[in-house]
Amino acid sequence: MNALPAQRVAVATPGGRYDILIGDGLLQQAAPWQGLPRAAQAVIVGNPTVDAAYGAALQAALAPHYAGLTRLCLPDGEAHKDWASLELIFDHLLARGCDRRTVLFALGGGVVGDMTGFAAATYMRGVPFVQVPTTLLAQVDSSVGGKTAINHPRGKNMIGAFHQPVRVVCDLATLDTLPAREMAAGLAEVIKYGPIADMDFMDWVEANLPALLARDRPALAQAVRRSCEIKARVVGADERESGLRAILNFGHTFGHAIETGLGHGVWLHGEAVGCGMVLAAELSAELGLVAPAHAQRLARLVEAAGLPVRAPAMPLERWLELMRIDKKAEGGEIRFVLLEAPGRAAVRPAPDDLVRRVIARRTGA
Ligand code: NAD
Ligand code: GLY
Repeated sequence: MNALPAQRVAVATPGGRYDILIGDGLLQQAAPWQGLPRAAQAVIVGNPTVDAAYGAALQAALAPHYAGLTRLCLPDGEAHKDWASLELIFDHLLARGCDRRTVLFALGGGVVGDMTGFAAATYMRGVPFVQVPTTLLAQVDSSVGGKTAINHPRGKNMIGAFHQPVRVVCDLATLDTLPAREMAAGLAEVIKYGPIADMDFMDWVEANLPALLARDRPALAQAVRRSCEIKARVVGADERESGLRAILNFGHTFGHAIETGLGHGVWLHGEAVGCGMVLAAELSAELGLVAPAHAQRLARLVEAAGLPVRAPAMPLERWLELMRIDKKAEGGEIRFVLLEAPGRAAVRPAPDDLVRRVIARRTGA
């Protein structure tokens, strides 16, 4: 089978213009790694899982460009998206005398990408970094747009910075080794773009879900490309989330409550977002913004992707307490990304009693 030709999606923000390259076997090719910032040193940041699978290939691709190229492994998992892991990056950089031209390469999923990006944003007040996402979730969402962060025990992604990568290289071949549960988690963020921005894409995802679940390469290429195009457009219009960008957080107010409430890493981020989107769509229907049939359609798609649609049992007051810590909350008032119409979303408050009703129905409480 011939490899798919690489595709390019451009991102233009005040914080940086860069390309997202999407293709098959990009880790083994020379072209994706040309024209990056030059430096004496570069560091590939990964974890034991991705380093074992792809660290050597990336090192071989980058070796012609960086004389001092090293690899660093952080502990794997959402539970390690914290200060201790961040310190490991700074320790590695300082121990090797890395200067402010040093280039960091984030090889892995959103956890490695968010932490490497945060380290790049803050090491010597900012060094360049390249995203090399190896999960579907990271290829369609977290590697693009420059949000970087670590978690706090009280809340998801509470400490971070905006720092755009200088390039994103999505090698679709890396998705072959992704566990099925992680594929489903990535599909949650693919599904997200339809109801908030592009109903044609939602139709396409529904029709192509079996192909996506079977990891059909052309279907994955199309899903990653269209997701990145939508995200690039939104981020280009509102890099710092003063308005429009918040729609990308559809499902996240409920989702972050699930992640923090159960403990970071118990549900995968994409699982929490999938269930959170169902809750947010049902809240939108309760408010009369969209027809209940639209919320039901989304719930069917989320479930068909292999994601949980039943919310975890937590006391209703605990849900509300957790959602008040969300970054969109203002003055203690929870604000949700709600569907205003099929393919359109906006940030709004909602009465607590409606929120409780929606959660209770999905938990069976
Ligand atoms: P993850 O980074 O934990 O990766 C999931 C698991 O898959 C890990 O165990 C990882 O080691 C493994 N893995 C990665 N690539 C693999 C491969 N090719 N083959 C086999 N195993 C592989 O999780 P994720 O879902 O990629 O990212 C979730 C994180 O992304 C969350 O922390 C979330 O907050 C963040 N996020 C950030 C943004 C943003 O805009 N910055 C957007 C969405 C999500
Ligand atoms: N994933 C949400 C954002 O990038 O804004």
